[in-house]
Amino acid sequence: MKTEIRPQRVSDANRFYEILSSPNFIYFSAKPKSIEDEKNFLKLNPQKRREKSEFNFSIIYNNINVVAVGVRIIQGRAYTGEIGYFIDEQYWGKGIATDAVLRLEEFIKSKLKLHRLEIFMAKGNKASRRIAIKCGYQREGLLKEMLLVEKVWHDCYLYGKIIS
Ligand SMILES: CC(C)(COP(=O)(O)OP(=O)(O)OC[C@H]1O[C@@H](n2cnc3c(N)ncnc32)[C@H](O)[C@@H]1OP(=O)(O)O)[C@@H](O)C(=O)NCCC(=O)NCCS
Repeated sequence: MKTEIRPQRVSDANRFYEILSSPNFIYFSAKPKSIEDEKNFLKLNPQKRREKSEFNFSIIYNNINVVAVGVRIIQGRAYTGEIGYFIDEQYWGKGIATDAVLRLEEFIKSKLKLHRLEIFMAKGNKASRRIAIKCGYQREGLLKEMLLVEKVWHDCYLYGKIIS
């Protein structure tokens, strides 16, 4: 079984929308309201790459798009990247997100001049925390009420890793 990543395409919109509509994404705030909404997000990807602000990928597992991993470079913190990910729930627990983060790190190390990577996750998001730990990130702090999902504020852990 092989996990690969490739840049997202506008034609991924239906798949992304379907997966993000799941009620089981309880710690995830970036849910599109419609397929059109998702298409508009995906259309901005080439511009974000040119600006070096975001590099978003689809995750391909056994030739199936099982969804997304990406890195965002925060304005004013040019050497730090924030990693995010989500996976089709049919494919949870197979190590795909962990593999995808490692593939993304290969891309980052070869193409971007980043020094530090961060992953934030809600305190209760144990699967996401495991991914950070398995990929060699260390817990650096707890950020109070950083994430708002459906009108509920969640404290988030910050995990970090120095890569160069
Ligand atoms: C978080 C998410 C990306 C994990 O994807 P995945 O492909 O299943 O992750 P992996 O299989 O690589 O690793 C998951 C790890 O978490 C563990 N895990 C899963 N659910 C868990 C739970 N409820 N409690 C404790 N550990 C859990 C798995 O056992 C595995 O660890 P292990 O390899 O030591 O056994 C997926 O659940 C998801 O898309 N969730 C919704 C969106 C989201 O929360 N994204 C992250 C925002 S920070």
